[in-house]
Amino acid sequence: MRGRSWPRLVSACPCLSSAGPGSGRTSGQARMEGLLLFLALLGSALLLGLAAVSFSLVWTCYYREGLGWDGGAPEFNWHPVLMVTGFIFVQGLAIIVYRLPWTWKCNKLLMKLIHAGLNSIAFTLAVISLVAVFDFHNAKKIPNMYSLHSWIGLTAVILYGLQIFVGIAVFLFPFAPASLRAAIMPIHVYSGLFLFGTVIATALMGITEKLIFSLRIPEPRYSDFPDEALVVNTLGVILVVFGVLVLWVVTRAHWKRPAENTSKLQQNVGRLDYNEEGLVMADESAVEANGEAVARKRNPILDEAGQRSTM
Ligand code: HEM
Repeated sequence: MRGRSWPRLVSACPCLSSAGPGSGRTSGQARMEGLLLFLALLGSALLLGLAAVSFSLVWTCYYREGLGWDGGAPEFNWHPVLMVTGFIFVQGLAIIVYRLPWTWKCNKLLMKLIHAGLNSIAFTLAVISLVAVFDFHNAKKIPNMYSLHSWIGLTAVILYGLQIFVGIAVFLFPFAPASLRAAIMPIHVYSGLFLFGTVIATALMGITEKLIFSLRIPEPRYSDFPDEALVVNTLGVILVVFGVLVLWVVTRAHWKRPAENTSKLQQNVGRLDYNEEGLVMADESAVEANGEAVARKRNPILDEAGQRSTM
């Protein structure tokens, strides 16, 4: 947090305040409470994410055959470990990264690169995890793509890849007009959150399937509720609570990253026009400077969506 102390940061951010008129609390107290609540939720989400990764490792390495790349069970085990680590935990971090108050002073392009980078890491780990399970199925002559888990899971991975591609093309490269960015942003935000929820639901299906498949022969069965089932059911609960916390934090409008370029925007917005082809302005450099922000200023709904930007 370069050159900015927490109290100043907090007081500069109405987003961290929950004091209303007549609430009886000073605005400073309320802001600090808002900040503490944010930090508590963020810290809990991080701890739960790390716990989920640990539980997946305990499951595969202690109760199952460990990790390896041999076409056997150890190769399959990369599937849950990498899905939980990459597709759930890292994706959760990517979603939440714009909300961290100490990054608000960072250049927006840097934040976009971090967001895109984390999502790309999550995608890469998900693809490796799929290679592991397909390879395992082929080696063991088990049919592919027969379960609901596999249908929803593969669709989620493909859509996630598409989401990253569109996000990079539209929001990271400087070619897309502001009107296109503004139009795509709400879809990007909605589909990002929807996919995140879908991936957690897919993991729950996969976990249940795997427990039913593997706790069969020899005894104990899943219905005997052995230790392994307790550990893995707990993993499922942790994933749900992790998802709830990430989605809660990211959908609170008052914890969003403040709009940038506000003062420049106010100077320039009067000289702008906006048509189907995007922004029209005599001073091209100001269009470049304000880009996305101007479109948001013209449409508060887009501004709201844009502030939730995950890209
Ligand atoms: C969270 C994201 C996940 C996605 C996107 C996903 C996706 C997939 C896909 C596409 C397949 C089909 C592979 C094939 O047919 O050869 C598959 C298989 C499988 N996955 Fe997952 N998976 C996820 C998480 C998990 C987790 C956490 C487990 C827990 C062990 C798991 C357990 C299984 C099992 C047992 C299979 C083989 C049976 C079947 O095809 O349904 N998956 N997964």
